Amino acid sequence: MKALILYYSCSGNTRLLAQQAHEALLSRQWNADIFHLRDFNTDRYPHHPDLIVLGVPVQYWDIPNSARHLIENLPPYNGASAFVFSTFGNCVINRVPYLLAKELIGKGCTIVGGAQIVAPHAAKVDGRQRLGDLETAFGKGQPDDDVSMQFTAVIQGIAEKIEMKNIARIELAELKKLHTRGMLASLMEYCTSNRERMWFMPHIDHDAAKCKNCRQCIESCDAGAIGCASEKEIAIDKSRCNKCYRCIDVCPSGALGTNWKQAVFWVRAIRLLARGAETKFVA
Ligand SMILES: Cc1cc2nc3c(=O)[nH]c(=O)nc-3n(C[C@H](O)[C@H](O)[C@H](O)COP(=O)(O)O)c2cc1C
Repeated sequence: MKALILYYSCSGNTRLLAQQAHEALLSRQWNADIFHLRDFNTDRYPHHPDLIVLGVPVQYWDIPNSARHLIENLPPYNGASAFVFSTFGNCVINRVPYLLAKELIGKGCTIVGGAQIVAPHAAKVDGRQRLGDLETAFGKGQPDDDVSMQFTAVIQGIAEKIEMKNIARIELAELKKLHTRGMLASLMEYCTSNRERMWFMPHIDHDAAKCKNCRQCIESCDAGAIGCASEKEIAIDKSRCNKCYRCIDVCPSGALGTNWKQAVFWVRAIRLLARGAETKFVA
């Protein structure tokens, strides 16, 4: 049996779960391949998998902007089963597994399961530690051993059903059970785009004096928002920036930063809108 595991990840949480799904399938003697969506080249992957596992983090209550077009550009996988999951920082609001499932149904897949999994919130406190590595309310210690075991069991259970040709389709509406709740949050999600929600978060600052022009930030930016202003200076196109803050992580000279106090303030404020933010599975 063949599986294709695709994920998007900025700070590693989603990658870890994708790797876990990979191991779960290998342990059942599946032929399983795993790719970051950024590195997945459809021309070099001519196979037709029996199962697709697709996972992304939640960013601004949504599929990360940079992951969205990579997912849209995936080819059709008619007849393949699909399991979708998202990791999120215990905040609001998560229609992401539902949206992923919708995309894959459009590519001919049958949804056989989904999950939303609490993981450490990636916003940084003073640019160093992640909020979610410090506070339980923002996913510290998650996914714990119980959740990890459950995740592996769900993936293996799905694999077993596919092996037995006993595929149990999940209706798209079932995935709505994974959503966090909250009237105000739902209303805001309905009324705003993720770019509008991004508006509250601070821009990336660039300190030219510290910049060594290594260009790692340019390579790391999936939005193509960072370019060269001159041979020695980078330029950030704010209108294209998705405010995922990955460039700050990869900058070895501390030339990129942001107002983390402002970022953390908004993350805390938004968390007050979340209801029922917890790890959930549908399978
Ligand atoms: C730019 C940004 C936006 C985020 N937006 C949300 C959100 O709307 N709701 C939430 O619960 N967590 C949010 N988070 C937290 C991430 O979803 C969480 O930390 C996720 O597990 C990160 O996955 P990764 O390590 O694979 O990138 C956000 C994180 C970042 C960096």
